[in-house]
Amino acid sequence: MRITVVGTGYVGLVSGVCFAEFGFEVVCVDNNAAKIDRLRRGHVPIYEPGLSKLLRKNATAGRLTFTTDARSVVIDADIVFIAVGTPSNPDGSVDLSYVYQSVEEIFPSVNKTAVLVIKSTVPVGTTAAVKGFLRSRGVEVDVAFNPEFLKEGAAIEDFMHPDRVILGVESPNAKKILSQVYRPLYVFNTPIIFTNLETAELSKYASNTFLAMKVTFINEIANLCEVCGADVNEVAIAMGLDRRIGDRFLQAGPGYGGSCFPKDTSALEDFSAKLGVDMPLARETIRSNNARRIRMVEKILRACDNEVNEKNIAVLGVTFKANTDDMRESPSIDIVGALTTRGAHLRIYDPSFSEQAKQIFQGIDFSDNAYDCCNEADAVIILTDWSEFRAINLRELNRRVRNPLLIDLRNIYTLSEVSAAGFNYCSVGRAFEKLKSAKEFVVE
Ligand code: UGA
Repeated sequence: MRITVVGTGYVGLVSGVCFAEFGFEVVCVDNNAAKIDRLRRGHVPIYEPGLSKLLRKNATAGRLTFTTDARSVVIDADIVFIAVGTPSNPDGSVDLSYVYQSVEEIFPSVNKTAVLVIKSTVPVGTTAAVKGFLRSRGVEVDVAFNPEFLKEGAAIEDFMHPDRVILGVESPNAKKILSQVYRPLYVFNTPIIFTNLETAELSKYASNTFLAMKVTFINEIANLCEVCGADVNEVAIAMGLDRRIGDRFLQAGPGYGGSCFPKDTSALEDFSAKLGVDMPLARETIRSNNARRIRMVEKILRACDNEVNEKNIAVLGVTFKANTDDMRESPSIDIVGALTTRGAHLRIYDPSFSEQAKQIFQGIDFSDNAYDCCNEADAVIILTDWSEFRAINLRELNRRVRNPLLIDLRNIYTLSEVSAAGFNYCSVGRAFEKLKSAKEFVVE
């Protein structure tokens, strides 16, 4: 089985490497020559635990190669995955230009018995439209849609042990070839679901929007907890033990970010409206999540006695979540921006040493570790739940700061452990913040 993967972004690269790990012969294609050159030398351009090692292993074994020349490799590919970016247009609709550019580039050479599989997240109807596009140019190939459900930071595990594989097909040939490609997952009894093209396309948007809505729901419950005496972490546990609800994606925080939830919720709202169907839950999820960033800034200001001008603020973690260097739509962009505008002196430490973050926060100091970041700080804010922040020596941190105030927007600590180290503690969705002022919790 010869597989071509067009696009070496997150989805394309992880899929290509993992298909090679399954034992298939894989060629990854990208029109960015510098990127292909780096990949050939074994350098992975994204931060993803385990990816480099797997890439080098499969490249050395000769199963994984990289090229900029799409046409030469699709000639004898049995299956071609299109995994290029589908960014948002300013109005929330999906920019499909990269999908069509890559289809246009390969169609004159594509092997007519191959299956063309769209893996990029695309609005309902796109895969059928791509088939129509090819037909209008005299090319008849089988098309399919195969959404990817991998999470940044856990992408390899998600690819190798997925909860399910969804395959939108419309021909026995596509079904046969895709069954062979995912055959290695049958050993783990992975549910492999065949649907029509539209169902597979919608499954991806429905899943991401539902998860975004779940996160938003617990964040709204957190707001309520702050005024009614409940603890959101415990409410989440209580809810999650109901198997109909499940305990995942119920962690309250500063709001969702990343390259997927914001883009996919907007896209669902956009294309459903074009189909004449209103999606008020998607719309309200987007609005509520945007409002959350402002709320987080207000929370920080309140904890700092409504004054951050000339104060030293240490920020621990700025990526949109842990185990990635990805800054796309990270809540930190708005929060750090708002504090800087109000005259605060920011210092940042992020365990990924994200280059994207350095570009975005030009002029702000970056530290090499959490402790140095907090020297002389008037407030320490945890914005991303990196594991290493869970085991910070809070007493040592207290010796370094100017004012012991910890604002934990990921709820990774408990009041008792933080106050035992002499910190005032402000977190998300816990009643004490409203019922008592943080200062009352200083341990003498
Ligand atoms: C998401 C989906 O989880 C994947 O299944 C999907 O394949 C991917 O989008 C995609 O469409 O490509 P990802 O964006 O990598 O994956 O990140 P998530 O782990 O889903 O987190 C998204 C955001 O929600 C982050 O900002 C995270 O901090 C936030 N979140 C998540 C919470 O605030 N609380 C939670 O309990 C879970």
